Parts: sequence; C-alpha cells; structure tokens
Amino acid sequence: MKGIVFTEFLELVEDKFGLEMVDKIISSSTLESEGIYTAVGTYSFSEMLQLLEHLSKNTGISIDNLLLVYAEHFFSVIEKSYPDLLATYKDPIEMISSIENHIHVEVRKIYPDAELPTFEVIEKTNDTLTMIYKSSRAMHHFGLGLMNKTFEHFNSTATIDLEKIKEDGTEVRFVIHKN
Ligand code: HEM
Repeated sequence: MKGIVFTEFLELVEDKFGLEMVDKIISSSTLESEGIYTAVGTYSFSEMLQLLEHLSKNTGISIDNLLLVYAEHFFSVIEKSYPDLLATYKDPIEMISSIENHIHVEVRKIYPDAELPTFEVIEKTNDTLTMIYKSSRAMHHFGLGLMNKTFEHFNSTATIDLEKIKEDGTEVRFVIHKN
C-alpha cells in the first residue's frame, strides 16, 4: 500500500482525535515501518489494518465507517493532486465506470506497485451503474466514500447500495442510482 494512504490517514487521525491517538495506535501495532511513512514509499497492507483495528477499538467506530470517512478525506487529496485526471470527466457515472479502464490505469503509471482493486461494470445507463468490486483488502467502504465524493464533486447525489457477494467483503456488488 502506498505511503500517501498512510500519511493522509495519520493526519486525519491527528486532526479528529489528536496526536495522543496517533501515538497510541502506532505503539499498540507491530509495524515494520515503525510508524514512519513517506508519501512515495510502499508499506504492507497489514500495517494499515492494524492501525484501523486499534483506532476502531479506541473510538468505538467500526472499521467500515472509519474507511468511509477516510475516503471522503482522501478524495480531497485526489482533487488537489490529480486535477487533470478529474477534469477529463463531466459526469459521476462516467467517472466511476472508468476506474478500471482509465483512472487506476493512470494511477498504476504513477505508482507501478500500487495495490488496486478491480471494478467490473455489469450494467450502465445514464443514471444507474452496477459494478462488482474485488480486492483481497476488502476496502469496499473506501470505495463507497470515494463514490459519494465523486457525486458531490459534480454537484450531484446518488443512492448507493452495497451487497456483499463474499462474507469477508473481498467481493461486493455496488448498485448506484443517480438522484
Ligand atoms: C486505492 C488513486 C479514484 C476506489 C487507490 C490508491 C490510489 C488511488 C493511489 C492506493 C493504492 C495503494 O495504496 O497501493 C486514485 C485516484 C483516483 C481514484 C488518483 C481519481 C483520480 C477512485 C474512485 C474509486 C476508487 C472514484 C471509487 C470506487 C479505490 C479503492 C481503493 C483505491 C476501493 C483501495 C484498494 C483496494 O480496495 O484494494 N486509489 N483512485 N478510486 N481506489 Fe482509487
């Protein structure tokens, strides 16, 4: 997992819960990085999982909800860092249905070792989109948060239903209806 995902995460934790919480979740985890991350580095996903688990335990917020809120923050990082990539889209359904064959393709050019999910488009109309998310990291709520913010970015809203195909969340169906 890319360092930018860790650095932005810890900044958000500091913002919302304070530096003590950052220290607490780092010191209660077993981290090869010792909790020192640079934006361009690459770190084990198990480190993110431990940080999320400890934050969840200490705040009582579920990992899914933490990932949702974190993704909403991460979207603003994307807006700042990749404005040209976003500017190629005029519509949220167009953008979200292009993650697999355009957006994450570009991401992989920038970060060849990025660990990305797959999003298979099952059905697409002007106002609806059904996609299957697959990833061993089960970060579907990170996807949900990015989708929510994508609609907001285009001054739009949507109802997004998420249905687990596999119990462990490694395969999930997203059904999106633009309002
Ligand atoms: C992961 C970039 C749009 C879904 C990532 C990562 C980056 C990235 C850098 C982390 C990879 C790693 O740590 O190795 C971008 C950029 C985007 C974009 C630059 C837009 C310009 C989206 C959108 C979605 C999405 C709209 C919404 C469905 C995900 C998910 C992950 C991810 C779910 C977590 C990894 C996983 O589930 O396996 N993306 N992304 N991305 N992205 Fe995107």
